[in-house]
Amino acid sequence: MLYGKRLGFFGCTVGIACLIFSFNFYWPKKFRSKISWRRIESCSGELPWDTITPLKGTKAYIIAPYYDNREKTIIRILGIVHHRDVKELYCYFCCTSDNILYTVRAEINIHSDRFGFPYGLADIICSEPPDCTPTHVSVHQSPSEEPDSLTTFKIRNRVRGRLTANFTVCFSAMFGNYSNVLQFIQTIEMYKILGAQKVTVYLNNCSRQMEEVLQYYSKEGTVEVIPWQIQRYLKVSHNWQYPKDDTEIGYYGQISALNDCIYRNMYSSKFVVLNDQDEIILPFKHWTWGSMMETLQQEKPNDGIFLFENHIFPQTVLSNGHFPNISSWNWVPGFNILQVIHREPDRFLYYNARKMIVDPRAVIQTSVHSTLKQYKYSNYVPLETALVYHCRGPLQPSLPRASLIEDKTIWKYNDSLIRNVNKMLKKFKLAR
Ligand SMILES: *[C@@H]1O[C@H](CO)[C@@H](O)[C@H](O)[C@H]1NC(C)=O
Ligand SMILES: *[C@@H]1O[C@H](CO)[C@@H](O)[C@H](O)[C@H]1NC(C)=O
Ligand SMILES: *[C@@H]1O[C@H](CO)[C@@H](O)[C@H](O)[C@H]1NC(C)=O
Ligand SMILES: *[C@@H]1O[C@H](CO)[C@@H](O)[C@H](O)[C@H]1NC(C)=O
Ligand SMILES: *[C@@H]1O[C@H](CO)[C@@H](O)[C@H](O)[C@H]1NC(C)=O
Repeated sequence: MLYGKRLGFFGCTVGIACLIFSFNFYWPKKFRSKISWRRIESCSGELPWDTITPLKGTKAYIIAPYYDNREKTIIRILGIVHHRDVKELYCYFCCTSDNILYTVRAEINIHSDRFGFPYGLADIICSEPPDCTPTHVSVHQSPSEEPDSLTTFKIRNRVRGRLTANFTVCFSAMFGNYSNVLQFIQTIEMYKILGAQKVTVYLNNCSRQMEEVLQYYSKEGTVEVIPWQIQRYLKVSHNWQYPKDDTEIGYYGQISALNDCIYRNMYSSKFVVLNDQDEIILPFKHWTWGSMMETLQQEKPNDGIFLFENHIFPQTVLSNGHFPNISSWNWVPGFNILQVIHREPDRFLYYNARKMIVDPRAVIQTSVHSTLKQYKYSNYVPLETALVYHCRGPLQPSLPRASLIEDKTIWKYNDSLIRNVNKMLKKFKLAR
């Protein structure tokens, strides 16, 4: 008892001493370096004109700031930075009520999956200034820049809005004169049948005709096109892997686009589906993603990241199902997925990559095949429940047809798919 009291007294004395010490020496200094303010005439600054904005004088590019109060209140700015050269950045918040400009030192967290490229996605994190609800933020590498000369970014997600979609699909980057029109239309129509209301496309480059299809779907409200001209600023690799030449960022900045897509849709979509434009998550036991996810979430309420096995359906092995009313498809460039119903068997000692359906509010950072930081558990959905139908060139081209696995799941949807694709093609023709 006595011992405890003494220890308590001792602890208290040390505690107070520490408190005084920290107030005198530690806190003010830390506070000073983290945040400063000055009065200014008015808040101004130019809005960005592109999805990606270079910061003058430093190797950093801003995509967008997002308000995030899931843990504590922060402004998370998604940016692309040179992993070695960018050590110091400041957020500029203008508080319109009293024309005070706050400068806050940012914490720079580079995502761990840079794959060896010099540039990578970073969370540039600033706390909000006290007694201020800023609508915009600027970023600069020094804390004493004139605010008028800075680009000012609107802070997204402060107003949450309401859920307008159950499923939003994110395509990381469409590039290289993409012109696979038929497969694209079929894929979008399949997503709609499966339960998606929206598809976010980060558009780098596509053919003229594909552009028209995207415009049509944008008008319809299904597709949101985000211009993604990353090659204006960085040397992009066509590959995700380690650079062998002087490329600066992997696979057209795929990781950056995927994370931006999650934050963009965080409060408007119940689920976000992260896969490429040649992939469709096909359920075996359920008709739609909605009923599949309901079952999966009922089984494991604390899971928020659902990973599905990727399987290659090579476009070199075709089958004809004798479907009615598809003769007009012959005139549309691209692959017909209804002809592709064979998948490659698993390769010995190869790991099947996975693609994801996530609760976006459970994700902090994502990579392509898994999340990096999250608030909920990952669920490795078994092959009996669903797979990723990946319709592309073969990975095992020498396999004879007999060694492939016949899988007609996509045919289950033939009626509604054919009807909807034909409707789309008809409208598309009328629109021209
Ligand atoms: C989402 O799914 C539910 C249940 O299936 C449905 O009632 C609702 O209309 C869907 N929401 C949207 C935006 O389509
Ligand atoms: C794609 O690239 C070509 C050739 O550089 C260009 O003419 C075309 O405008 C680009 N299309 C889009 C949608 O960016
Ligand atoms: C893009 O693809 C379309 C359709 O395949 C083709 O007609 C066009 O010439 C291509 N454009 C370029 C710049 O390669
Ligand atoms: C084919 O299209 C015609 C006209 O749109 C329609 O009447 C018919 O029911 C369709 N056939 C099938 C089997 O879907
Ligand atoms: C097409 O779908 C219908 C049901 O909608 C089904 O009865 C039929 O077997 C399917 N066709 C093929 C070739 O699988």
